[in-house]
Amino acid sequence: MFRPRQGVVVNPSTEPKVLEEGRVSWSSPSNIAIVKYWGKRGEQLPQNASLSLTLSASQTQMRVSYAPKGPKESPGLRSFLFQGLEKERFKARIQNYLHGLKDRLGFLDRVCLDIESENTFPHSCGVASSASAFSALALCLCEIQEELMGASLPREDFFRKASCLARLGSGSACRSLYAPLALWGNVGQGPFVDDHALPFREIHPDFLGLRDDICIVDGGVKPVSSSLGHELMEGNPWAKIRYATANRRVRQLMDILKSGEVWDFMELACAEGMALHGLMWVSPRPSLLLKPASLAIMEKVIECRRRHKIPLGFTVDAGPNVHVLSLDRDRKTVAAFLKEELAPLCERIIEDRLGEGPRRTAGEGQGGGRG
Ligand code: PMV
Repeated sequence: MFRPRQGVVVNPSTEPKVLEEGRVSWSSPSNIAIVKYWGKRGEQLPQNASLSLTLSASQTQMRVSYAPKGPKESPGLRSFLFQGLEKERFKARIQNYLHGLKDRLGFLDRVCLDIESENTFPHSCGVASSASAFSALALCLCEIQEELMGASLPREDFFRKASCLARLGSGSACRSLYAPLALWGNVGQGPFVDDHALPFREIHPDFLGLRDDICIVDGGVKPVSSSLGHELMEGNPWAKIRYATANRRVRQLMDILKSGEVWDFMELACAEGMALHGLMWVSPRPSLLLKPASLAIMEKVIECRRRHKIPLGFTVDAGPNVHVLSLDRDRKTVAAFLKEELAPLCERIIEDRLGEGPRRTAGEGQGGGRG
């Protein structure tokens, strides 16, 4: 499985004798699920399969420096800066994550990590910042392990491992490893499994022009975390039906993507976005995350689709912000619609589209690039 680097013969089970210092750096995108993951079991495994678009503009750029721990130091996270500032809440979550990975990544017991992270979009507002952050971090950790061992996995295995590790930080993060679309979960057909995502590439060329204009209705911290949302599915009377419906919808979506049925795609995306919020309304502790402006945007998207007869849709994650989905070929009409009708309803609009997946940031680490 292991390919030695530069002729060094290594045994993957041995640990390095001398720990070196180094720095690795990855940029990783957020993703938006068309069929949603909502409900989990066991070690962050999904109750149903999900399929997402990997974005381009919404990225986390992460740099991780590692060094052997000093005699009086505790191993693990030494410092964490988000947009140049210390963020205790994020630091605690990452510390906890790293602690949980000790059995999988032996080096975490012997090194100190200094992490710097930056986002190109607001965090904790329903744009999946945890997806881009944990996928970037998982990639950095896999890279550090390889640096320390002087050996590298084949690219496919490296990404699969990073996807598994990212999943443990935030379920949806496992999908950010792959572009242009990613499928996570055993959907009953194809090679897809529950413990990591895989790329979904059988798509009609029309879908390569997919755009996601993210209407930020409220960029503040959302009142219900996705962890609580997943938990509430446990007592939700509709849970069983939901999981079966979601798996069926993923299979439908796979066919739609292959055949280029852009109108069906938009319809399914809207239905899933609304289903997610419907599930919250019928949960044991109902929560209302949509704002009046979110509903107004959804309504306007439906109106615009009717008026201009163009395939236009939306989806919503666990927050008030609406992702407006369209195709490149209709950009002129959509750009005017966004500017005139939607911009007055939101704080800002992030213009995003299908992206190319994570990228190893050049020149930061010591080993061979993969990006
Ligand atoms: O990855 P988590 O645990 O933050 O869950 C994300 C859930 C949704 O964003 C609402 C849906 C999804 O599949 O991304």
